Amino acid sequence: MSPMTTMPPMAKTAQWMKKDLLGLRELSAEEIGLILETAQSFKEVSLRPIKKVPALRGKTVVNLFFEPSTRTRTSFELAAKRLSADIVNISPQGSSLAKGETVLDTVKNLEALKVDIFVIRHAAAGVPHRVAQRTSACVINAGDGAHEHPTQALLDLFTIHEKKGRIEGLNVSIIGDISHSRVARSNIWGLTKLGAKVTVCGPPPLIPTQIESLGVSVTYRIEEAIKDADVLMLLRIQHERQEAKLVPSLREYRLRYGIDQGRLSFAKPGILIMHPGPVNRGVEIDSAVADGPYSVILDQVTNGLAVRMAVLYLVSGATRMDLTEGPAP
Ligand code: CP
Repeated sequence: MSPMTTMPPMAKTAQWMKKDLLGLRELSAEEIGLILETAQSFKEVSLRPIKKVPALRGKTVVNLFFEPSTRTRTSFELAAKRLSADIVNISPQGSSLAKGETVLDTVKNLEALKVDIFVIRHAAAGVPHRVAQRTSACVINAGDGAHEHPTQALLDLFTIHEKKGRIEGLNVSIIGDISHSRVARSNIWGLTKLGAKVTVCGPPPLIPTQIESLGVSVTYRIEEAIKDADVLMLLRIQHERQEAKLVPSLREYRLRYGIDQGRLSFAKPGILIMHPGPVNRGVEIDSAVADGPYSVILDQVTNGLAVRMAVLYLVSGATRMDLTEGPAP
């Protein structure tokens, strides 16, 4: 039985012992289950006429994004607001980072303003980890280089569980640029810990050697990856990979690995089509599939809000599950 169905709901905060959420590699299956169960409670809040609970009233959250983001930054901001926290968005262009201030100095100065939680996205792997070691505030990794994107994988796990009723024993194929994908890495950790069977598929230069050591299977044939899959998780092909000659051309990638309706005719009934976004329509996925009946891409976005509310709530050490109806007083 999955941790989601065994975790006693009101024991949640007592069992979360970590200051930070930096990756899924360092989480146990039980800790992942705890986040997913907590997210389940928070999902309902966004369905209320007044979408707000007082759980993080008095806490201050800073979104520190060094890379562009639509889904992650916005959903962290909305999550903080729905929990009644104060939130500030900081970008390199609009802060003293543009004058050469270091990331750590920036964090230390914000810490002096009594920030409780930093949400950090950075192009370099390990930046949230280094910050976490130097601040007493909580740090949430919102994507670090090609390393991890833990809240994306958590929302993917939540969505799979919501749609399929389980994760254990499912066949999940991850298609695309596995080598450079923090989404793939976090999902591999999360899915394997929860008992899914993971296959990765893509052009050989985009599949890391020895990836099997993470407990996944490898195929370079898209039909093989689709055949038994319960879930197809597609990744964005980044244009810089083509410039680096790691894929011959986007047209060739589409021909060999793109998912269109023809390819889906080999799929099991009820397959889930997932994509973290942003989507390259006509490259890794055709519009008819992205907008089709098997796509749960927008459900992923919706669930990202509940998952990020859960993560903010748990790392903040909130001591009770206060989901009282109505706005914060
Ligand atoms: N999936 C994801 O991380 O999207 P954003 O870059 O828009 O945050």
